[in-house]
Amino acid sequence: MRLVDTFGRIATDLRVSLTDRCNLRCTYCMPAEGLPWLPGPHLLTDDEVVRLVGIAVEHLGVTDVRLTGGEPTLRPGLVGLVARLADLRPRPRLALTTNGLRLAELAARLRSAGLDRVNVSLDTLDASRFVTLTRRDRLEDVLAGLRAAAAAGLTPVKVNSVLLRGVNDDEATVLLRWALAAGYELRFIEQMPLDAQHGWRRAEMVTAEEILAALRTEFTLRPRPGRGSAPAELFEVDGGPGQVGVIGSVSAPFCAACDRVRLTADGQVRDCLFARDESDLRTALRAGASDEEIAGRWRTAVWGKHAGHGIGAPDFQQPDRPMSAIGG
Ligand code: GTP
Ligand code: 5AD
Ligand code: SF4
Repeated sequence: MRLVDTFGRIATDLRVSLTDRCNLRCTYCMPAEGLPWLPGPHLLTDDEVVRLVGIAVEHLGVTDVRLTGGEPTLRPGLVGLVARLADLRPRPRLALTTNGLRLAELAARLRSAGLDRVNVSLDTLDASRFVTLTRRDRLEDVLAGLRAAAAAGLTPVKVNSVLLRGVNDDEATVLLRWALAAGYELRFIEQMPLDAQHGWRRAEMVTAEEILAALRTEFTLRPRPGRGSAPAELFEVDGGPGQVGVIGSVSAPFCAACDRVRLTADGQVRDCLFARDESDLRTALRAGASDEEIAGRWRTAVWGKHAGHGIGAPDFQQPDRPMSAIGG
């Protein structure tokens, strides 16, 4: 039986956070000193991750698995874990969302292990802005990682960019020109209230509308039909074949079509990025629960999923966990 909620949505896309740690310190995500990381014994082991994902694909109809973080390439043994997930039946499609720092070293091995594709976060092409945004001087590593991902066939390689007012909001066209030339699929993401510092202000957010207006000063964009449950609205650029996506999570939420469910690195099911509560599968697992029991808990957790994230509603509250501990 599948993961259905009271609104009739079916979750087929599982996002698994493998660690809450990161080797960058993006200002819109976490403070310079980092965060109190999850204690080691709370993290799911590889065996536990494989068991839970196995239950999801075998009993719950999950078809797509995305590994996230924090930064998932910091997880020791990632390549071996990917190989084990690729051995599951029915085999899920396997993707990774990463900041790209370690991809030059890992892309070919991840591909051989069975990873299908990667999404890489990159907000600027300017080295000094990269330092301002991420507090680390690693732009060249991300660019090398992207090239390695494409060479390894982890395609289509997607690039996620968050624009921040007064920091990199003048880079929309620069980023698109670069992505089209390099053959990456660029998506701009509206900044969401998920930062550890609780510094997000709607009025300061660069909106999807502003991003599209900036792009249209240089490119002709035509909406692509058939978005389905994808968060990004896609536009054909200058008659194609290139395209660009805009993820307007705040101004144009895609909650009504959401097909996602999340598993945190410490084994909690979250039915939404903005969920206020979680369902503890780790404790059940370690207490010896059967596959059927775990599948039952998982179904119950998803059944109660809310209609939408409610950003902007008077009673909206940011979730207790920041984005880096939920998995982007
Ligand atoms: P594709 O399968 O390649 O389309 O992946 P994706 O876009 O779902 O994954 P990715 O990890 O690259 O996510 C890109 C951004 O989409 C994230 O950083 C979030 O900003 C946003 N996003 C992903 N999932 C959700 C969600 O459930 N709700 C909201 N509001 N935004 C989400
Ligand atoms: N709002 C929108 N996107 C965010 N990301 C991190 N924090 C936020 C936020 N508050 C993005 C990263 C990365 C993806 C996983 O999530 O830039 O591209
Ligand atoms: Fe790391 Fe991603 Fe947060 Fe940046 S946004 S600090 S890359 S977890």
